Amino acid sequence: MNPQTDQDSLSGSLFTFEGIDGSGKSTQARRIRDLFIRNGHPVTLSREPGGTPLGEVVRNLLLAETPPLSPLSELFLFLTDRAQHLEEVIRPGLASGQTLLVDRFIDATIAYQGYGLGHPVPLLETLNRMILGPIRPRRTFLLDLSPEIAFRRIRQRSGAQTRIEQRGEAFFERVRNGYMELAGKDPERIMIIDAVLPEESITQMIAAEIQRLLKIKQPTGGSDGTA
Ligand SMILES: Nc1ncnc2c1ncn2[C@@H]1O[C@H](COP(=O)(O)OP(=O)(O)O)[C@@H](O)[C@H]1O
Ligand SMILES: [Mg+2]
Repeated sequence: MNPQTDQDSLSGSLFTFEGIDGSGKSTQARRIRDLFIRNGHPVTLSREPGGTPLGEVVRNLLLAETPPLSPLSELFLFLTDRAQHLEEVIRPGLASGQTLLVDRFIDATIAYQGYGLGHPVPLLETLNRMILGPIRPRRTFLLDLSPEIAFRRIRQRSGAQTRIEQRGEAFFERVRNGYMELAGKDPERIMIIDAVLPEESITQMIAAEIQRLLKIKQPTGGSDGTA
């Protein structure tokens, strides 16, 4: 690792997807990846937790119902995952000019472990900075949705609920409010998107923003190949 690497030598772009569970992050991240690849712009999709061999092990620990995790253990596992992700995927990807899409990143730590679990936010910001060095997301897409609708979507989605998804509505209200506070403090980076909109409309909004920032001229067309 070279913490001295400055942002200028990292020629790629990092776009992140945030929001509470069930808000549609993974759906949009996949749609954007498919759309850009179909239009000849290679992008790499990764996720937290996960994204590296260690990260996938950590992800299983975090999302499984057992063994129990204390609030500090949960925080440190998420940070372990991020440190490895920076080392193996994000820093090298940006250094080689890639466009990276990441499903959850630094804001999830502040929203979930800070506003949700009650760890001190300034400490979390310091830890995030320590892991990231000069790296910053170019733009963050915050999919904003009420926990009530998000829960309904999660129940309809296939697969068992994770440890974190099982936390009650009050927890997710705090997480949602935390995300909105972050967006209020950093409106240049964090773009709030109304996640009740149809998938296709959201994809078009995100695609337009990425194209604008990357100065891609040609239209991306329909995200599912039909429009
Ligand atoms: N805009 C949308 N409108 C309605 N349902 C959606 C929308 N986006 C995603 N979904 C559905 O909601 C569920 C949760 O989406 P997902 O992308 O897995 O959320 P997240 O990754 O944020 O937890 C999935 O079943 C998905 O098909
Ligand atoms: Mg997801």
